[in-house]
Amino acid sequence: MAAAVVRYGIIGVGMMGREHLHNLAHLTGQVEREQSVHIRVTCLADPHPESLLLGLQLAAELGLPAPQTFSGHHELLDSGLCDAVVVSSPNMTHCEILMDIIGFARPHHVLVEKPLCTTVQDCKKVIEAAKQRPDILVQVGLEYRYMPPVAKLIDIVKSGTLGHVRMVAIREHRFPFLVKVNDWNRFNCNSGGTLVEKCCHFFDLLRLFADANPVRVMASGAIDVNHKDEVYDGKVPDIIDNAYVIVEFDNGCRGMLDLCMFAEGSKNEQEISVVGDIGKVLASYLVYTVLQDCK
Ligand SMILES: NC(=O)c1ccc[n+]([C@@H]2O[C@H](COP(=O)([O-])OP(=O)(O)OC[C@H]3O[C@@H](n4cnc5c(N)ncnc54)[C@H](O)[C@@H]3O)[C@@H](O)[C@H]2O)c1
Repeated sequence: MAAAVVRYGIIGVGMMGREHLHNLAHLTGQVEREQSVHIRVTCLADPHPESLLLGLQLAAELGLPAPQTFSGHHELLDSGLCDAVVVSSPNMTHCEILMDIIGFARPHHVLVEKPLCTTVQDCKKVIEAAKQRPDILVQVGLEYRYMPPVAKLIDIVKSGTLGHVRMVAIREHRFPFLVKVNDWNRFNCNSGGTLVEKCCHFFDLLRLFADANPVRVMASGAIDVNHKDEVYDGKVPDIIDNAYVIVEFDNGCRGMLDLCMFAEGSKNEQEISVVGDIGKVLASYLVYTVLQDCK
């Protein structure tokens, strides 16, 4: 039987779009043989010509056939060249792009980078629309779950070794936000704010470890160190750079996030401790090292 071909398009070819191009290239070979599928990246869409150029250069370095390029997602969808799309454009563009993909007559499966959208209202809108399209798989890229130290932690917690999970504490002490194309991540209206943009990964993990839904949230954060001397079109960034957040869950479990984004060179960028009524487990790791090890 001939192997099926899955044709991918990438919408937003900045840092993460190119990361996805890398990942899709890694899926060729062994994964293709195991799954009897051929993976092709046929399209890239981005309004920023430099990002498209970098995407094409990377495709060539990875030995992939040159994808077709488009300046936006409408042209990519109209081309009929894709079966699945990765949305890795800035957060404030996700809602409109997702609604267009979900509303497009021809089905396209979607992996959208976190966060799904920048507001709860927009998230609900996309979720409701996706429910009307059972022929489409819409997945949000909350990939911290799959980082080896976190995946190991999940295995331990789910095995029941710790007993009933009572407390989950996550600390991220890291470097400031990186520079992005057109500096979109400097403003809450574009990113949804630091706790949405960066920390949706951690709220996902807290919920996963607690195996429950949140009922109460307390938080305190501020802009204390970063980006204070930056100005974009006359505006100073408004994103917080440190916070403590406490979350109470409906099964009595408590979660805590300790975020500091002016802690470059921290020995362990992230630490997660999970304590149950009979045991505790702690994972400490440098994300950069973990990601390099996975390549
Ligand atoms: N999973 C993670 O750990 C992780 C890490 C970083 C960023 N992200 C997410 O990935 C997404 C992209 O972030 P990035 O770091 O690659 O940003 P980036 O600025 O490097 O790249 C974004 C790209 O999208 C393009 N773009 C802007 N508007 C567009 C539109 N309407 N249609 C298509 N392309 C458009 C920009 O020109 C740019 O090339 C964001 O949602 C971000 O939150 C996830």
